[in-house]
Amino acid sequence: MEQYCPPAHVLIFPFPAQGHVNSMLKLAELLGLAGIHVTFLNTDFIHERLVRYTDIKTRFSCYPGFQFMTISDGLSADHPRSLIKFIEVYDSLNSKTKLLLREMLASNQLIGSNTRPSLTCIIVDGLIGGFTSDIANEFRIPIIYFRTISASCYWAYFSVPKIIEAGEIPVRGNEDMDRLITTVPSMESFLRYRDLPSFCQVNDLNHCNLHIFVSETQQSPQAHALILNTFEDLEGPALSHIRTHCSKVYTIGPLHTHLKFRLEAKTSSSQSQSSNNLYEVDKSCMTWLDAQPLKSVIYVSFGSITTITKDKHMEFWFGLVNSKQRFLWVIRPDLVVGEHNRNEVPEELLKGTKERGYIVSWAPQEEVLAHHAIGGFLTHSGWNSTLESIVAGVPMICWPFIGDQQLNSRFVSEVWKLGLDMKDACDRFIVEKMVNDLMGRKREVFMKSTDEMAWLARKSVSEGGSSYCNLDRLVKDIRLMSM
Ligand code: UDX
Repeated sequence: MEQYCPPAHVLIFPFPAQGHVNSMLKLAELLGLAGIHVTFLNTDFIHERLVRYTDIKTRFSCYPGFQFMTISDGLSADHPRSLIKFIEVYDSLNSKTKLLLREMLASNQLIGSNTRPSLTCIIVDGLIGGFTSDIANEFRIPIIYFRTISASCYWAYFSVPKIIEAGEIPVRGNEDMDRLITTVPSMESFLRYRDLPSFCQVNDLNHCNLHIFVSETQQSPQAHALILNTFEDLEGPALSHIRTHCSKVYTIGPLHTHLKFRLEAKTSSSQSQSSNNLYEVDKSCMTWLDAQPLKSVIYVSFGSITTITKDKHMEFWFGLVNSKQRFLWVIRPDLVVGEHNRNEVPEELLKGTKERGYIVSWAPQEEVLAHHAIGGFLTHSGWNSTLESIVAGVPMICWPFIGDQQLNSRFVSEVWKLGLDMKDACDRFIVEKMVNDLMGRKREVFMKSTDEMAWLARKSVSEGGSSYCNLDRLVKDIRLMSM
């Protein structure tokens, strides 16, 4: 006879940034689909933007146990909250938000109504796992970590104490960026100094970013479990190592496809909508794409955090226009730093863009990558973008900006053979050459691996696949906790 489990209720708390909220909200929706009550806790700032640019009311109204709640990030109204100011955001969450969260739990505010069960567990973004664990322990609520980075990057952060012990960081004077790092098990033959997460490329071991990323990662084995947005066939070696430290690791990605498949199975429709935008989406690019030939367009987007100087912007622009390839480029209003005067843009760039290009300030990226006109992706190698490109079978040119992106791009080019790595270069001639290589003579080289990996990704989230089964196990595990 099956044991009766009372309904489970999970609090999900992401770090307040696009890439984090996006994937954690997908996890939340998957749990909602499985009938688990979910309280999704956003900072006020993020929630206001989410409500403005994503129709969450309609999307989530079909999950009776789903509620959004908000909490202050403790920053002043005029704070930019960009991740360039990461430390300020992190410190404020760790001091002010921590107290507010504690108060919320102490006063039972998260229960909301008496029809909602008490909290079964907390799923927190591992980047803010430390303070949330302290509170969870105080209230005896089990805590599960969710990391928005790849398993390989997680493993690299985990290995930092060994890297330091071996003297491979910090940087010594005039460093050879191509020197191999030999102390991250499973990556000894290809991980160079320049491929380490950017926060590890420091000459001061007391650097606060390094300290935060390493200490938050090191303590995750103390959590009840670890959830990763990846799949077994993609990151087997790193996952085997992680499992020697964390007893329960649930790989349930790629989350965007996993959610899409489960929604489609439930509604028998292929029109599921699951993007979570903090920016206004410009859908006009889809009409433009409809008019372009098969696989003729390179999609260019640097995610939600990257900023570039005016000079670098010009190098990319010249490179794209001079390649003579068609391009769709996302230029967020805050992508280019410094004064930008449109009158300064050379006529040849405007002409080339009018003929073969299209620019938007935010695109429906998942739809764009799935469009038949897209033949390549010039990306900053954020983990969500990387997974989205993998599922769509689109080869990449990687231009990593910060954090995990340096490592992701090495895996894309060297391990998975899904594209080219342009890291640490920003030159119009290199951009032109790489775009032409990817869209032209090297396409065939990548197509076999991109097709194969796309197939494996889809298989993992189809019924019986590894991520599919792991999600079912996670749901069961959460239900058992509520007994
Ligand atoms: C950063 C890190 O690099 C990433 O690895 C980590 O997991 C989260 O923080 P970000 O720079 O935002 O993320 O990049 P990415 O992870 O690629 O996420 C960006 C998301 O925004 C993607 O889901 C992408 O589909 C979406 N996006 C981006 C759009 O919907 N439209 C756009 O125009 C650009």
